[in-house]
Amino acid sequence: MTHKAAVATGLDQPLEILDIGIDEPHAGEVRIKMGASGVCHSDLSVQNGTLMSAFPVVLGHEGAGVVEKVGEGVTHVKPGDHVVVSWVPQCGECYFCTRNQGELCERANTAMATGGLLDGTYRFDLDGAPLAQMAASGTFSQYSIIPASGAVKIPDDVPMPVAALIGCGVLTGVGAALNTADIAKGDTVAVVGCGGVGLNVIQGARIAGADRIIAIDQNETKLAMAKQFGATDTVNASQVNAVSQVMEMTEQRGADVAFEVIGLQQTIDDVITMTRRGGQAILVGVPRMDVMVQLPAFMGLVLQEKTVKGCWYGSSNVHTDVTKLIDLYKKGELKLDELISREISLDEVNEAFDAMKTGEIARSVIVY
Ligand code: APR
Ligand code: ZN
Ligand code: ZN
Repeated sequence: MTHKAAVATGLDQPLEILDIGIDEPHAGEVRIKMGASGVCHSDLSVQNGTLMSAFPVVLGHEGAGVVEKVGEGVTHVKPGDHVVVSWVPQCGECYFCTRNQGELCERANTAMATGGLLDGTYRFDLDGAPLAQMAASGTFSQYSIIPASGAVKIPDDVPMPVAALIGCGVLTGVGAALNTADIAKGDTVAVVGCGGVGLNVIQGARIAGADRIIAIDQNETKLAMAKQFGATDTVNASQVNAVSQVMEMTEQRGADVAFEVIGLQQTIDDVITMTRRGGQAILVGVPRMDVMVQLPAFMGLVLQEKTVKGCWYGSSNVHTDVTKLIDLYKKGELKLDELISREISLDEVNEAFDAMKTGEIARSVIVY
């Protein structure tokens, strides 16, 4: 069987919409008819080499769809079930999964590294040659085969575009605030970068009970959206120095918790600096390999009692957190429809990448 997918054929190449082949699901795998896929900055990061990958590769890792066929031994989902695709298929059995750190699942890491599934082999092909899929997902594709542990069952009434966004931006952003960081009621939180992920950090901070949420971006449209998602103050980093602004707003103390949600050297340095003594700097954005965290050990860390903490996939347990997020959405506490700036078709994916580069929109969502 062949179908359409958006393929990155090499570094810095525009995606090509190609007819690709797909296998049958092996044991412990499921085939999904994709319903929708968000276009996330990490897709762009594979295209431009920030994130390492095999090529050619089917991009897309923020998706949801309907289970079409299950492999041997799969019991938790059946054909017809609606699922969110988890780009860390959390096995539930390894060292990390059994310590409630499923985002670091050992088995999932293997798939990440090879561009294949959990056994390192491929289910997609391009004219008979093996074709990689991003993060055991490959959601820029009408169909995909993923590890069953990456298929998280959801109720049928959640719209597909919303379910897709939960798969990366929402789990990562809201999770950064609710799981990775320890936000206390009344805290002052700073969020640098208000894209699809950063807006979710903002609403997560609001749900965690932060009093003051300072949104920092270089784009006015994003700052306006940040307010809609719960920011109380905004700083346009292209006009003023973000660090001194945050210091001024906090009697020169700094923020209790500050998040970096872009992945740049400058903004990572800024976020660590704008965190108060005893506070937490949470690094969410995915930087290039040469970006470093450098701090004077005594003056920067010991004396300051600062925590600098990395955040992968919002420290989420997808098997429990997806349901929690859907409940919050249904109660009206999580804004998810508002994250969708544009619904597009698969062949408009390159335009969605361009829109992301200019920073003008929250999310483009491919609807199949
Ligand atoms: N200063 C302030 N804001 C900036 C700067 C800067 N120097 N550079 C970019 N921004 C803003 C953009 O205006 C945009 O609003 O950062 C935001 C980035 O948003 P997106 O491109 O939508 O990225 P997103 O999908 O949210 O991902 C953010 O998290 O998961 C990771 O790989 C992902 O590293 C990426 C990060
Ligand atoms: Zn993503
Ligand atoms: Zn595991």
